[in-house]
Amino acid sequence: MSNKKSTAGAITIALALILAACGSDADKAAETTAKAAATTAAPATTAAAAATTAAATETTAATDGTTAGSTPAAEIPDLSAYTIGFAQVGAESGWRTANTKSIQSAAEDAGVKLVFTDAQGKQEAQVESIRGFIEQKVDLIAFSPVVETGWDAVLGEAKEAGIPVILTDRAVDSKDTSLYKTFLGSDFVLEGEKAGDWVNTEFADADSVKIVELQGTTGSAPALDRAEGFRNKVTDPKFDIIASQTGEFTREGGKKVMEAFLQANPEIDLVYAHNDDMGLGAIEAIEAAGLVPGEDIKILTVDAVHDGMQALADGKINFIVECSPLLGPQLMQLAGAVLNGETVPERVVTVETTFDQEQAIAALPDRQY
Ligand code: AHR
Repeated sequence: MSNKKSTAGAITIALALILAACGSDADKAAETTAKAAATTAAPATTAAAAATTAAATETTAATDGTTAGSTPAAEIPDLSAYTIGFAQVGAESGWRTANTKSIQSAAEDAGVKLVFTDAQGKQEAQVESIRGFIEQKVDLIAFSPVVETGWDAVLGEAKEAGIPVILTDRAVDSKDTSLYKTFLGSDFVLEGEKAGDWVNTEFADADSVKIVELQGTTGSAPALDRAEGFRNKVTDPKFDIIASQTGEFTREGGKKVMEAFLQANPEIDLVYAHNDDMGLGAIEAIEAAGLVPGEDIKILTVDAVHDGMQALADGKINFIVECSPLLGPQLMQLAGAVLNGETVPERVVTVETTFDQEQAIAALPDRQY
């Protein structure tokens, strides 16, 4: 057991570096690469540090917008002495399925005992799972909160029981940040802003643009932040968001809401869907209405899962902002550091890029999810 713990400790020597490499812009990545290179040159260089440098270099390339699959390679520590409880949101999307796989396979690689629960999109179920983990006295709890609010009580119970918590993928709005050790996941506001940047370029010459928005789960961090980021950028009065409604991050939800949008609005220029699945549902509704997705109505989505990328390659989606679900290896690294009593950064931002049609065609053969 102590061997295993010390393995986790050795690997986390490089953790600060690899986590720092997870910034979301090229400058930060370049700066990190330089720092990592300097560290590798020092006499105390370890295999883990060398791996970190490679990951940082990969990060720089990924933020150029040319590389498929931009999550840095992460050394997975030996956590076989531990039990981690993971409370997942559900299985609403291709993204979620890939995220679950990433966490389960990284846990297997780490040798950790993973107690995995699926809340089927319900916050009450997630709260119950977390209480169950506390009763079972797991060593660490990780979870992706369904919605942002309402976590203080249960996180307080975990803290009281001395069980560290890591947030993955989605944030909570708790003022008391001592309720969790770190938050690993995307910058959803930035994703919305990237979507808005594309709209500004794509419709630069248009006089008026009618936009409909398929929002994610109401009250969830990605729905709130992607809406905010988009509006930060799409400020010209020629842009009119004529309708905005949740499609619950599902294909079925996206299809249903898009059908209603099409009936109520004879003219739609652009669909902004908060994930690929809802965009794919919208494609079905648009085709059923006798229109051509990607041409008669442009489609912009977030995620870049395989089916979304295929639709982009086929010209049915016009642009995708990546949101990487491959959080498993970094989660195991952070868990290792926390369990080893090390200080971890409060926030670890996932490295992500964007894809147009040409880039999707190039990336598809190697796409992992
Ligand atoms: O929290 C991440 C979001 O949740 C993904 O963008 C979406 O597909 C998922 O359901």
